[in-house]
Amino acid sequence: MADDYILKMRGVTKRFPGVTALERVDLELCSGEVLALMGENGAGKSTLMKILGGAQPPDEGTLLIDGKEVAFRNVSDSRRYGIVLVHQELMMASNLDVAGNIFLGSEKSSWGLLRRKVMRSASESVLHRVGLSCSPATLVGSLTPGQMQMVEIAKALSHHARILILDEPTSSLTLTESEQLFKIIGDLRRDGIAIIYISHRMEEVQRLADRVIVLRDGKRVGELQRTEITQNKIVSMMVGRELTNWYPPLRTATEYRTILKVENLIVPGAPCAVSFEAGAGEIVGFAGLVGSGRTELMQTIFGATRALGGTVVVDAKAFAPRHPRDAIDRGIYLAPEDRKRHGLVLPMNIAQNISMPDIHNYKPRAWLQRGHEVTVAKKQLDSLRIKAPGVKYRVGSLSGGNQQKVVLGKWLAMRPKILILDEPTRGVDVGAKAEIYREMMELAQQGITILMVSSEMEEVLGMSDRIIVMRERRMEGILPRQQATQERIAALMTGAGKTDKSIGV
Ligand SMILES: Nc1ncnc2c1ncn2[C@@H]1O[C@H](COP(=O)(O)OP(=O)(O)OP(=O)(O)O)[C@@H](O)[C@H]1O
Ligand SMILES: [Mg+2]
Repeated sequence: MADDYILKMRGVTKRFPGVTALERVDLELCSGEVLALMGENGAGKSTLMKILGGAQPPDEGTLLIDGKEVAFRNVSDSRRYGIVLVHQELMMASNLDVAGNIFLGSEKSSWGLLRRKVMRSASESVLHRVGLSCSPATLVGSLTPGQMQMVEIAKALSHHARILILDEPTSSLTLTESEQLFKIIGDLRRDGIAIIYISHRMEEVQRLADRVIVLRDGKRVGELQRTEITQNKIVSMMVGRELTNWYPPLRTATEYRTILKVENLIVPGAPCAVSFEAGAGEIVGFAGLVGSGRTELMQTIFGATRALGGTVVVDAKAFAPRHPRDAIDRGIYLAPEDRKRHGLVLPMNIAQNISMPDIHNYKPRAWLQRGHEVTVAKKQLDSLRIKAPGVKYRVGSLSGGNQQKVVLGKWLAMRPKILILDEPTRGVDVGAKAEIYREMMELAQQGITILMVSSEMEEVLGMSDRIIVMRERRMEGILPRQQATQERIAALMTGAGKTDKSIGV
């Protein structure tokens, strides 16, 4: 077996100021295997992969490829050995076209015009392989996040990767795109390409991985072979203890005092108006396939997208949301799905970020004084278990999932009347998920209404008092939690639930 290894990493250590990101980590890889790398936010997964991809040098440790020691000074060095890293944060040049991106850094070197042509036709074949139907001349900036991800993978294929590293690839993909990706992974594996796969989604890992390596606090704490992989085993290795009760117990059905009414709201592009109510302290989950119009609806309630008609009523006062300012003034806040782009100032520290209501859209609120800022931030740091040496730590230096937690912490700290959370736990590890759920329950108990968009069935079922299922930009059904089952929700999501007579809209 030992001779089959195409890659061995030995004793890899990496320190950042105040943090040991990796401590003497070993990792080995055979050709044609899918190795899942798992661990909590900040465990060191991305850092280990950046070292393998030549994007960062290790402080200590060795790398062996086909049994020979190598040292990478940069990304091109690692590429030369057939290693390609698709980053967690998409790093694309949005002003270039697709072909330009695929060949970025390795442009075909010949003369002017010809070069473009060669690049375009070479791009076409790899785009076809990943099932992307766009033209190589499309500007990357106009693609959806999922399509950009596919371009990144196409880029990897064009480099003839032997080792392909995918760092949380599905967090920005639709269901169909994810399926496409899994198919590609299967094809690549059959071609003998080794894949290192990072994800916080257990079902994916169980489905894809031949082996799992778990990191905790920068150390390798365990390994599971395909037949041994279970969700519980992975989770307890990740968090170092048994983690039970991920979701709070079912709350008993209560009568809620209606605080929010959405009346005949017309979302641009939707086939019909939407109306629903929510009570103070109620958690309403919005289920649906990606593209079913949940995010658009939330953006419209919040005024970030302008409604074509209808009103929103908060505490018996009606208004037509035209601008986020309108919504915020009435106590409605929205933590967007794409938190990276809409909510973080990377060079600033955690406390500054948490205390700053979306600076792009509105002025800082006066209620926050400096001392208070630190107290609030500290509370969020603890309760969401953000892995950082302190609240003055630069957000840009945090791991991907911990950055997510900072943005979420900011919105949770604002104590609104109505809080809209769009995919609140995306990219967040299981332990932190449980903390987020607890915090949501606490807010609900204080009477805050939560509208939660989620693509995770378990999350929707576990957290919601009522579930609104959307399909093709209309409300397909409303289910009280006691009547909601995975099957019923799925049927409504896909349009197979029409015959379900008990569901009123
Ligand atoms: N450039 C950097 N400067 C300072 N600290 C860093 C830097 N990059 C990573 N770290 C720190 O190293 C640790 C490991 O981070 P890493 O990004 O590898 O985690 P991860 O396992 O990928 O987490 P996630 O699941 O959240 O993506 C974290 O504590 C992080 O704050
Ligand atoms: Mg990461």
